[in-house]
Parts: sequence; C-alpha cells; structure tokens
Amino acid sequence: MSDSNIIVAEHLVKQFQEKVAVNDVSLHIGQRELLVLVGPSGCGKTTTLRLLAGLEPVTSGKIQFGDRLVNEIRPKDRNIAMVFQDYAIFPHMTVFENIAYGLRSRHTAGSIIKERVPNAAKMFRIDHLLKRKPRQLSGGERQRVALARALVRDADLYLYDEPLANLDAQLRHQAREDILLLHREKEKPSVYVTHDQSEAMALGDRIAVMRDGKIQQIGTGTELYDRPLSEFVAFFIGTPSINLFDAELKAEEDAIDLITSSFTLRLPVEMHEKVQEAIGKRVNLGIRPEDLQSPKSAQFPVSEENTIHGMVNVIEPTSAGCTVYLSMLEDEPKDFVATFKARLPASYIGREVPLAVNRRKMHLFDQETGRSLLYG
Ligand SMILES: Nc1ncnc2c1ncn2[C@@H]1O[C@H](COP(=O)(O)OP(=O)(O)OP(=O)(O)O)[C@@H](O)[C@H]1O
Ligand SMILES: [Mg+2]
Repeated sequence: MSDSNIIVAEHLVKQFQEKVAVNDVSLHIGQRELLVLVGPSGCGKTTTLRLLAGLEPVTSGKIQFGDRLVNEIRPKDRNIAMVFQDYAIFPHMTVFENIAYGLRSRHTAGSIIKERVPNAAKMFRIDHLLKRKPRQLSGGERQRVALARALVRDADLYLYDEPLANLDAQLRHQAREDILLLHREKEKPSVYVTHDQSEAMALGDRIAVMRDGKIQQIGTGTELYDRPLSEFVAFFIGTPSINLFDAELKAEEDAIDLITSSFTLRLPVEMHEKVQEAIGKRVNLGIRPEDLQSPKSAQFPVSEENTIHGMVNVIEPTSAGCTVYLSMLEDEPKDFVATFKARLPASYIGREVPLAVNRRKMHLFDQETGRSLLYG
C-alpha cells in the first residue's frame, strides 16, 4: 500500500442467521492510526475485526485497503497480522515456532527468523520460554506469545482482539507501552478491540464506541469524554461513570432551572439556546464525578446556585485524592459519586456535605432518545 492509503470499511453488515452482529459500520483508519473499538460484550467488536481480516465474508458492505477492494481477497492475501481474543496459538509447536509461524508461511529467510523471533519474545518478556510448548505456559504467557507472533511480522494492518485481558495490571501496562512503541515504529494502521474504556483512552488515537452492532460515536478520547453525543457514550467513557439525575427543565423569568427531586441548579446562559425545545420536559442530567467538588477546593465559582448536598457513605482513597460515594437524602436514596483531588477524613462518613457543581461541564440527555441536547 502506498503511504497515503488508508483502510476504509463502508456500511459493513454481518448477519448470522437472524442475528445482525454488525449493523452498518463504516470506518476510516488512517495510515499511522491506532483506532480502538470499545463496547460491551456481544456488541460486535470481534466480528468487525474478523470482517476486516477476511475470516468472515461480509453480508453487505465494502472493505478497501487503499484503493484496492478486498471483499473477495482471501485472509492470507490481505497481509494482516491479528492477535486473537483466545490467542489461537498452536499447541504442538514450541513458543519459538509459534512466533515464527507467520514469517515461515511467508517464506522469510531463516537468518531473519533467527534474529527476529528472539527480539519479539524479548519485547514481551517471554524470551526464556522459547523452547516450551503452550501447555507449559500460564494464560498471560500464552497471550504474550500471541502478541509476539503477530507483531514480529510486517503487515499492512494490525488487528488486536482484547490482547491484554489475561495479564495482571503491571504486565498490562508494560504490554500497552510495548504495543504503542511498536505501533509508532511500524507506522501501520491498527485496530485494537477492548471492553476496557481506560485502555481505550490510553491507547487510541481515536475511539469508536459500539453498541448492538452499531457505532455510536467515533472521536478522540477527549471528544468522547467532553462532548458525548449520547447518554450511552457519556456513561461508557469515564470511571467512575457519569452521575445521571432525572430532572425537569423549567423556564423562570430570564433563567432556566434544572429541578430534580433533591436539588435545583441554574443552567448556564450559554446552554439556553440548546435546550429551548426541551423546556417543560424531563431530561437526564449528567454530572461527571470530578465536576462535583468540595466547595473549599473547587476551581470554579461557588454559590448557592450551584451547590448540592449529599450524605457520605464510603470514602475510597486514590493516589492523590479520594472517590466519595454519596446519596441524596430523599424518600428513595439516590446514589452518586464524586472524585476529590484531596483526601477526605473518614470522620465525614455518615455526614451531609455540600458539593459544588461545575455547571459548564454538565450534560443533558433526552430521556426518550438518549441523545445529548448540548452536543451534535
Ligand atoms: N458465528 C456466529 N454465529 C452466530 N452468532 C454469532 C457468531 N459470532 C458472533 N455471533 C453473535 O454476534 C454478536 C457479536 O459477537 P462478537 O463476538 O462480535 O461480540 P464482541 O463485541 O466481540 O463481544 P465480547 O466482548 O464478548 O468478545 C453476539 O451476539 C454473538 O453471539
Ligand atoms: Mg470479542
């Protein structure tokens, strides 16, 4: 493929009997881009990768590598390296032979294999295991064999299907760094599947959020986080998840209020125009945990108009501050979460505290469609 070329998938559909696993997915992947596909189990991530790899025929839609239509091209002629969700390493071959497999099947010279295989194994810290068979390896080691086998090759497209799921936290971070380094070195398009949104944020140049076979939104991590087009994306991206409150939008003289069963917040003027159609209706108000701050340490103006109250149930220390689990005091307690940049002493548990809301960062969603009123 020439340098400027990209991978293009247009209106991909994959139907298994009555199940539509991939439903009108379009993706453009840049030459040096690492695109992450993220979404809940069963949303169609693996199927999308298998369509790109040619392991499943498409029901309809087009796949192009550069200006070449590859729909009818066999997997082995697409020059793709793939790390499978279930590793798919060969049980009867040693680790060395497993890693060398793709190189041998492309008739790579023995001298190159001898040099590259140990290097790839070293990168993933399995160079001491080259003589073993897969059954003599732990799950995490097998996973790293699968990674080394795919990344030892020069391919036109790299596909990763949850390649780090079985690694402990430390190895996962290391392997993530290694994948990023290799990706930058190879400068080839890559698609990386995960259901872990923090991994998606850490790795993706762009992230595509999938649900029920469809792409909900594609953008950089920051775009998805700050300007989600739907409640689903807002909820899926970010940990702890965004807090959602059932609210009514009510017009006052020259103000608009958000009224929930436990608090009222005044809407920032710059949001007025966007919500005109929804005045008088119920909406879901979204507030990210870090946009709820202790009034004393808030980095935005605090007044009665943006202060709410909650009872502290649990305080979880984090590296720099803490995550505070609270509930609203009402008939049916409503739980919500705040992340503070400073520690809160345990003596606060069971007490009611004021919280300042960073109103400019609030989100509003149509209760019926789940669409954002503010973005899109
Ligand atoms: N060969 C098949 N025959 C029938 N249904 C299938 C087949 N492969 C996948 N499906 C269905 O298609 C949907 C998408 O599956 P897919 O494996 O793509 O999901 P996924 O997003 O990778 O999920 P996970 O995160 O659990 O790996 C699921 O409902 C699954 O049951
Ligand atoms: Mg899968």
